[in-house]
Amino acid sequence: MAFDVIIIGAGAAGMMCALTAGQRGRRVLLLDHLDRAGAKILVSGGGRCNFTNVNGGIADRYLSANPHFAKSALGRFAPGDFVAMVDAYGIAWHEKTLGQLFCDGSAKQIVAMLADECAKGGVETRLLTRIVGIAHADGMYRVETSAGEVCAPSLVIATGGPSIPKMGATGFAYDVARQFGLKVVEPRPALVPLTLGADDRLFEQLSGVSLDVIASSGKTSFREAALFTHRGLSGPAILQISSYWRNGGEIALDLLPDAGATMLVDAKAARPKAEFRTVLRDLFADRLADALADRLALSGTMAGLKDQALADAGGRLKGWRFTPSGSEGFAKAEVTIGGVSTDGLDQKGLMAKKVPGLHFIGEAVDVTGWLGGYNFQWAWASGRAAGEVA
Ligand code: FDA
Repeated sequence: MAFDVIIIGAGAAGMMCALTAGQRGRRVLLLDHLDRAGAKILVSGGGRCNFTNVNGGIADRYLSANPHFAKSALGRFAPGDFVAMVDAYGIAWHEKTLGQLFCDGSAKQIVAMLADECAKGGVETRLLTRIVGIAHADGMYRVETSAGEVCAPSLVIATGGPSIPKMGATGFAYDVARQFGLKVVEPRPALVPLTLGADDRLFEQLSGVSLDVIASSGKTSFREAALFTHRGLSGPAILQISSYWRNGGEIALDLLPDAGATMLVDAKAARPKAEFRTVLRDLFADRLADALADRLALSGTMAGLKDQALADAGGRLKGWRFTPSGSEGFAKAEVTIGGVSTDGLDQKGLMAKKVPGLHFIGEAVDVTGWLGGYNFQWAWASGRAAGEVA
C-alpha cells in the first residue's frame, strides 16, 4: 500500500501528528520499534499523565536556542484544545498546583484516546519495527525497515530524545537530521536529579528529607520542593533548575523562603536561652537541622552566639551555594534539552526548510518545556502543526 505520510515514533507527538494527518484524509503509516505506542505517556505523571498545563501557551516556559520558535505551534494548539479532546472522551481530570492537569484515573486513558483518534483517521500502526535506513530521491522518502521498505512523499521524525534509553529512547532523530544536513544543538539531560561532590557529602545522611526552597541558577529561580537523595538532590525545584544549569555552574538554594535574612538574630532576641540546634529544629526537619548546625559550625545557646555569626548563618541558609558534581544523566532525565536545531525548520509545519517533506516534531526538536505538563503540550502542539501540513 502507498502512504502519503510516514511517521517514525509512536509517542505523544507522533500519535498527535498521525491522527491529525489521518483525519485530513492522508494515508498515514506510524512506525515504532517498541511493542506499544505511547510508552512514555503510560509512565508519565506517576501513571496519571500530567497531560498539559494551563500555562502551556506561555512561550518563555520553553527553552530553545530560538525562544520564539515554539510560539507559532503553541499558539495554534493551546492547552484548552487538548482538554477539549480529553473532555470529549469523558476522561476525568483535575488541576494540581502550578496549573498542572492530571488524569483522575490512568494515563492509559490518554493513550487509548489517541489510538482511537488514530483509528478514526485510518492510521496504520506498525510496532516492533526497526528502522534500518532512510533514502530520499524523486520526492519520495524510502524507509527501509526490519519488515521491508515503505515509502511516502512526507516523512515525520517523532522519535523524541535519548532520555531514559531503557524505555526505548534513542538519538535517532539527530542522526536523521545530520544525514539531511540539519544542525543539532548539543543534547543534554534536563529535568534531572543533580549529584553532589565530596564537599557536600554530609547531605548523604539526609536521603528522603524534603523541604520547600527557592532554587536559583543565574537569573532563573523556582520555588518548589527539593528532595535529598543518597547521591544528591532531586524534587521539582531541582529538576526545574537542572534545565538551566551547566556543568561546573553553581546553584543557590534559599532554604527558608518565607523568612527574612535576620531571622536567627531575631530568634536570639526572642529565645536567648534556646540552643542553636533547637532553633534550627523548629525551622527544619530534625535530620536536616542537625546537618546544617554541623555545617554552620555553631552550637550552644543563642545568647552565647554573636549577632554577626547568626546573621552570617542566616545569610547562608537564605543562599546555600553548591556546585553539583554532575547530574544523574540521560538514564534518569525526564527530558532532553537541545536537539534538532530550529534554525533549519519552518515554524508552521516544522518542516526542514531545505528538505521538502521532512518534518521533526516533539522532544526531538530543540524545544524543551518546564516540568509540569509543558513537554506534552509541546508534543501535542508540534504534532498537530506537522499533521496539518504533512
Ligand atoms: P516520545 O519519547 O514520547 O516518543 C518517541 C517514540 O519514538 C517512542 O515511542 C520510541 O519508542 C520511538 N523511537 C525512538 N527511537 C526510535 C527508533 N530508532 N526507531 C523507531 N522508533 C523509535 N511530560 C509532561 O508534560 N508531563 C508528564 O507528566 C511527564 N512525565 C514524564 C515521566 C517520565 C518518566 C518521563 C521519562 C518523561 C515524562 N515527561 C512528561 C516528558 C514526556 O514524556 C516527553 O517530553 C514526551 O513523551 C515527548 O514526546 P515525543 O513524542 O516527542 O517523544
